[in-house]
Amino acid sequence: MRLQRLAETDRPAVSFTLDGRPMAALEGDSLLTAILTEDTYLRTNEFGDGRRAGFCLMGACQDCWVSVEGSGRVRACSTPITEGMRVSRGTVQP
Ligand code: FES
Repeated sequence: MRLQRLAETDRPAVSFTLDGRPMAALEGDSLLTAILTEDTYLRTNEFGDGRRAGFCLMGACQDCWVSVEGSGRVRACSTPITEGMRVSRGTVQP
């Protein structure tokens, strides 16, 4: 699944990295939105081989954990993207 922007495309750009790869987002994006507009999945499932893209999108289901350097594990759906954020689908130590 990849998200497609249909509106608000004139917001300022924000740069971040995902597993070391440079990515672009827009100011005000959640981390989940930022990742899924640039890639086809959010993370892999620790209990199986399926790729995940979040579920509830409101901080309740725990299906969107990613790691942010300096912050540890965060819910991608309720974490705003910030300039220079270094995101990993694996474990990142704070
Ligand atoms: S998608 Fe459910 S907690 Fe983030």
